[in-house]
Formats: sequence, C-alpha cells, structure tokens
Amino acid sequence: MDKLLRVLIIGSGKTAGGREHVLVWLAGKSPRVEEVYCFGANDGMRAEPKYIAVSPEPQGVDDMIAWVRENEIDLVIVGPENPLAEGIVDRFRAAGLTIFGPTQAAARLESSKFFAKKIMTTAKVPTARYRSFFHDELAQACNFVRNEYPHSSVVKADGLCAGKGAMVCRDLDQALRAIHRCLVDREFGTAGEAILIEEFLLPHPKLRRAELSILSLVDIHGNFLMFPAAQDYKPVNDNDEDDNTGGMGSFAPVPWVTEAMMNQIGRKIFEPTIKMMQSLGNPFSGVLYAGLMWTEDGPKVVEFNVRFGNPEIQALAKLLKTDLIPILLAIAQGKSIADVKLEWQPGYAVCLVLASKGYPEKYEKGLAISGLNQLPTLNEFKVFHAGTKDGKTNGGRVLDLVWHSMLGLEDAALVVRNLATKINWGDGQTTGPHYRTDIGLNVPLTID
Ligand code: AMP
Ligand code: GLY
Repeated sequence: MDKLLRVLIIGSGKTAGGREHVLVWLAGKSPRVEEVYCFGANDGMRAEPKYIAVSPEPQGVDDMIAWVRENEIDLVIVGPENPLAEGIVDRFRAAGLTIFGPTQAAARLESSKFFAKKIMTTAKVPTARYRSFFHDELAQACNFVRNEYPHSSVVKADGLCAGKGAMVCRDLDQALRAIHRCLVDREFGTAGEAILIEEFLLPHPKLRRAELSILSLVDIHGNFLMFPAAQDYKPVNDNDEDDNTGGMGSFAPVPWVTEAMMNQIGRKIFEPTIKMMQSLGNPFSGVLYAGLMWTEDGPKVVEFNVRFGNPEIQALAKLLKTDLIPILLAIAQGKSIADVKLEWQPGYAVCLVLASKGYPEKYEKGLAISGLNQLPTLNEFKVFHAGTKDGKTNGGRVLDLVWHSMLGLEDAALVVRNLATKINWGDGQTTGPHYRTDIGLNVPLTID
C-alpha cells in the first residue's frame, strides 16, 4: 500500500477561508491521507477529521519551507492567488517539495490581465475586444473610449486588485472617471498603472445571468479535466445589485449548459490556452478557472483565475464523488492525468454565503455566532467556515451553507435559504448575517 499522506493547505497571509476549509475537508475524507494541516485555520477546519493544529505558525516562505521539511509534509496545496502570484510554487519546488499550483510565470494568467489578453489573442481564444494603455497614456485612453465604446465599456487595472479592479461603465462619464481613478488617482497603486479598456460583452439574449465559472485541473503535459459548470453571484444584494464582492453564493451544475457547450468551452478556451502556455515555455499546472460570458456567439473569456473559485468550489466539492487528493498529488508530482476521470453525484448543490453586514465595505468582527448547533447533520448538507474564530465572526464572508438536492436546483436553493435563518450574530439587525435570497432561483433549464 502507498504511504499515507500528510497534507498542508496554505491560505492567504494569516487567514484561511471557505475555499481552504473545502480543501481541508476533502483531504480529511481521503483514505490516502493521514494528517491535515492548515496555516491560519478557522473554527470549521479545526473540527475536521485528521486535522492537526499548527502552533506556532511559520512566518514567511523560508520559515514555511523549513516547517514543511521538519513535519515531512507530502503534499502542499495553495488556496488563493496571492501566494501563487508571488512565486510560492517556484520557491517550494526549488527546495525539493511537492506543491500543487502554477509557477509564478504561469500564474500571470490571473496576475496580469495584459498577459492573459496577449495569450488569448495569440491563441485565438474568444474574449472581449480591448486595448491597453500605460500610465502616461491618459489622453489616448480617454480618446479611445470616446471614439470606440462611448455607450458601455469595462475599464480594468492590469494587476491583482482583490476583485475590485474591473469597472463596468454604462456611459462615457463613468468610463472617463474609471480611467482617472487608475491613471491619475492611482487608486489601485501599481496594479492600476496600466489599464485595459474592453468592449462590454452582452449575454446571450435568452439569459439574464450568462456568466459561467469553469474550473479545470491541468497537468504539466497539457491534459485537462473540466469540472461541471458553476455560477457565482458576485454583487452583494439580490438581483445582482450594488457592489461586487468575492462571491455571495454559487450553484452547480448549471442546467442550461449542455455537453456540447462544455465541449466547445474545452476546445475553444482551455485547449488553445494551455497549448500556448506550453509553447511559450511556461507550461501551466494546477487549477485553471475560466470566468466566461455565454454570448450569442458562444463562450467568451472575461477573466482567468489560477486557483479554485470561492464559493464555486464549495458547491462543486459537495457533488464530487472522486477522491481529489491523489489527483492533486499526481499533478504536483508532474504526472499525467490523461487516464483520470472525475465522477459527480447527480442533482444540484447550492452554496449560500452568510456575510457580515456592511461587507464588502466596513463591517464588525468578533461577534458571537449562534445557531450552528441548529443546523442538520445530514449527508445532503455541509457548512464550510470562512471567517470564524473561537465561535465569533472574523471576516467579511463568515459561513458557507451548502445543500445537495436530488429534487432539483430550486429545492436546494430553498432549503439552504431556510437553514440560513437559524444562524445569527451581533444584534441580528444592524450587525447580523447578510445573505442573498435569490441564489440558485429562476435559473432557466435550457436556452434552445
Ligand atoms: P473581473 O474582475 O474581470 O472578473 O470582472 C468583474 C466582473 O465585471 C465580472 O464578473 C463581470 O460581471 C464584469 N465584467 C468584466 N469584464 C466584462 C466584459 N468585458 N463585459 C461584461 N462584463 C464584464
Ligand atoms: N468566485 C470568484 C472567484 O473565486 O474569483
């Protein structure tokens, strides 16, 4: 029998969130795993089987490498984009360690929108038309938007901005203001020193919400395995109103996405992107996540991410039957996944995020959470923790409730919404949980 594995999950800085809890849970369930560690763990992870607390936690990459060696960790999995963009995978590999995720050069698919667009243009991957401008090209950028996209456009900062660097502009005034925010006010620091101005992609006429999150496991040889389509709800309020967040909920699979559509996404988006990265000498391995718009002309890429989507992975993981850990290990070891198949449970999973009131702007932390013991312990249900610590709230997104229903998407959506009413914190009014009530509802079954 193969040696049992010790797995470490790495979050962002000093905290790990909902996506990292999913990874701890998946590792804990795996018969191949003996021990699971996570830096910056929240309450949810601490309650998972095989979890072992780390104390004191290493600070900085050199310390982490020393800790991983000392504790004989067999597999390191990185959750968020920042450590990947900073080159954590290169550093760990140079130290001879086994780590799942793309190199810094390959992570540029997410960390530089310029780079991603260049790859897409060269590889003929369908995406929004665009032009790029540097910090000393204010006049050119303003003229471009005036002449080309006076009615609607999207202005994007080049670098990582924690989901805030894309500004959808409904008229010329908004676009000019967005350009100024990046190039004059330098609101996004160096990430916004260069910008892209894009055409605004229109959804397919039969769809109100046409954005899809397609996650794919990619090995270094160019093989990829797509997960079922998921949808994410970024805006903080119902009907997709108000500010964008990291994601207020998700569901999977998406009923109107057919097998033929998935094949198109594989052929037109993943295949050419992965091949182009190989031919440039920056082969990609890890999770490649295409955020795309389904338009009248088929799929068009809105953005690439180089890690699991949060909260998409919460819903997807609840449906996954296959043990993911040996697959992530194989990819991290540079092996091929050509013969691997993923199996999924039938039915639908909905993830509802309970956030702190005020998120994504200012919110209170440290409020005692009540009602967790009222939640069911059933196979159909899983609660993942995002920002929790010692029974209190500890972040913008606090809890992720996931229900898997064999009866349909609407059933899952209604059950999970009902379960949300059992949870409370703060005074329940000005400081209590905030959640959307429309996640997974009114989703068309087909667009034929
Ligand atoms: P991003 O940070 O690139 O994912 O963009 C954030 C959100 O802005 C996306 O989820 C879309 O809803 C919207 N968006 C970005 N680019 C476009 C585009 N070219 N056309 C329409 N909507 C877009
Ligand atoms: N749910 C969006 C993201 O993970 O970027």
